[in-house]
Amino acid sequence: MIQKTDFIEKINSYLNSCIPQSDIIQDGLAQSMRYSLLAGGKRIRPLLVLEFAAALGENPEKVLPVACAVEMIHTYSLIHDDLPCMDNDVLRRGKPTNHVVYGECTATLAGDALQPLAFETILSSELSAERAVRCARILAECIGMKGMCLGQYLDMLGEGKELTAEELDLINNNKTGALLAASCGIGTAAAGGSERQINAAMNFGYKIGLAFQIRDDILDVISTSEELGKNVGSDAEEKKNTYMVLLGREKCENEIKRLTEEAISVLEEEFRGFDISAPVELARSMENRKN
Ligand code: FPP
Ligand code: MG
Repeated sequence: MIQKTDFIEKINSYLNSCIPQSDIIQDGLAQSMRYSLLAGGKRIRPLLVLEFAAALGENPEKVLPVACAVEMIHTYSLIHDDLPCMDNDVLRRGKPTNHVVYGECTATLAGDALQPLAFETILSSELSAERAVRCARILAECIGMKGMCLGQYLDMLGEGKELTAEELDLINNNKTGALLAASCGIGTAAAGGSERQINAAMNFGYKIGLAFQIRDDILDVISTSEELGKNVGSDAEEKKNTYMVLLGREKCENEIKRLTEEAISVLEEEFRGFDISAPVELARSMENRKN
């Protein structure tokens, strides 16, 4: 099995090559994009892309640009999520947020510009046109008005209101789950997987996505800003609807276990004969993550 650390090195090095360092003032927008893109992060989404592609026998080098495109979208979402008009956060990935360093307008533009850069990166990759288009379509469908942006919008609408478990799941399936699902689907599509395999991979992604968000809600209550690299306690401060508020710690832990096991069974069923140990191991490591 290819080591996770090898993949992370490849991801970081490719991202580093996407936007060269510059001191020229006209490059300020590019530098603000580079700042957030290279600020660290666990690289879970591009890892999922590479691991699914590798599980189906595709050369990870060929899929690397597509994996990094997903990280560009993720980084844009973090920059915008931190803006004063959204969560107004000053710390992310252990560093001052983009708008704190570059100002609100540049940070907004950095998030905007990361989106076309992601699609440009997919469409300029060495994948066949058919596979590249499939990947671009999955990404577009998962991050817009029927995916991540919808989730962010519903999250904002729900602030200060008491939500049911179904409403909370709807928010988080879109806000967090859709991009994780897209990552799994894109890795599968980049390797020429069937529609059934793409659907199963995305189903796995949605389930680990919900588990991921539940862990995020727990960490916001019990962790420290040093460990998380972002401010803690902000959910309660902003009267956010979280799984911790709705279910309490014990039920949250049970839900994470249940969703992770369900996710793994979905994969095992549809990917019989393929080595899915890497995504399975990643799902299990995410289950108990500390940051
Ligand atoms: C942390 O990921 C991120 C989440 C738990 C997702 C939260 C959702 C958003 C920020 C969506 C915002 C949407 C818009 C449209 C602005 P992580 O723990 O993997 O972070 P890392 O990459 O820094 O490790
Ligand atoms: Mg938010």
